Amino acid sequence: MSERPLCILGIESSCDETGVALVSAPAQGPVQLLSHALHSQIDMHQAYGGVVPELASRDHIRRVVPLVRQVMSEAGRTLTDVDVVAYTRGPGLAGALLVGAGVACALATALGKPMVGVHHLEGHLLSPFLSADPPEFPFIALLVSGGHTQLMRVDGVGRYELLGETVDDAAGEAFDKSAKLMGLPYPGGPHLSKLAESGDPKAFELPRPMLHSGDLDFSFSGLKTSVRTQLQKLNLLDDEVALAKAMANVPAGPLADLAASTQAAIVEVLVKKSLAALKATGLKRIVVAGGVGANRLLRQQLNQAGERRGVRVHYPEMHLCTDNGAMIALAGAMRLQVGMAVLRRDPVFDVQPRWDLSKI
Ligand code: KG4
Ligand code: ZN
Repeated sequence: MSERPLCILGIESSCDETGVALVSAPAQGPVQLLSHALHSQIDMHQAYGGVVPELASRDHIRRVVPLVRQVMSEAGRTLTDVDVVAYTRGPGLAGALLVGAGVACALATALGKPMVGVHHLEGHLLSPFLSADPPEFPFIALLVSGGHTQLMRVDGVGRYELLGETVDDAAGEAFDKSAKLMGLPYPGGPHLSKLAESGDPKAFELPRPMLHSGDLDFSFSGLKTSVRTQLQKLNLLDDEVALAKAMANVPAGPLADLAASTQAAIVEVLVKKSLAALKATGLKRIVVAGGVGANRLLRQQLNQAGERRGVRVHYPEMHLCTDNGAMIALAGAMRLQVGMAVLRRDPVFDVQPRWDLSKI
């Protein structure tokens, strides 16, 4: 790498957030976030109770160029200052990914600069390196997003070993699907966790799937079934009027209790499996990344468990927990720093909707 820090533009468009960011990467040492901008499509998808892929792609098309302009202007730079264009190559929705990849390719080609395709989960797991308390390698990464729940051993940039993962629903999906059954808006995670604040986590006995499976895998689909059964017993299932009445009793109603019990079940499994991964590897550091990493109970319980065991727990800044362009620019930058970035200069791009992080 040259003496002058490199200026890397990052573009994220794998799901329902268009994120763009600019970072400055010295040859070695911390990468600096110069500016970042985000447009969330949550309001648009809320009416459908989940992400509509075609609408997501069209909205990325509308948002991405204005967001690029915004980050350049906020950083006081121009496009000619950009040395490398990083974009999310996968995993994610194919159409949504193609928008970011296409724009990255067009920009890089027009500027005569290389581009680098980034793995979305690598972005998440490296995102704490932009925080005030960055981790040191090696560490355990608990990746908990809407589509993934994985425990990885991370020995350095690009050195990832999968220790365990979900065999069915992801933790974020368990939050979202349970919340949907409870009549809460999309995305369910933050809404369910807000409702849980006024509920009793011991009110309902919900299963802790695979808690004692002896491995580091997870399973969350049974939890959603139990939530459904409890709602049925409460005569709240598929009855919008009854749900609305139950909502009127919040705080203190059975719905808040069920939300608190659901959150407690998901968090307990995540914390216990994380501790098992730390014990199995002997490592004393863990990074929590992905949207569910914003969950307050998860943070509280991991912090407490970590303190008792002399384990350091690292998180991305709260606003960088969910999808964003900063983590994509950062991952591209950190790969460049260690000479592991695959730089492309030809005006061709591809995306990988399904892509295994431990195989990159
Ligand atoms: O990482 P992310 O933004 O997107 C994916 O790559 O999937 O994660 C989104 C997931 C959703 O399932 C959302 O409900 C969940 O993160 N989430 C939360 C919270 N904030 C976001 N789950 C629980 N508690 C939260 N506070
Ligand atoms: Zn994500």
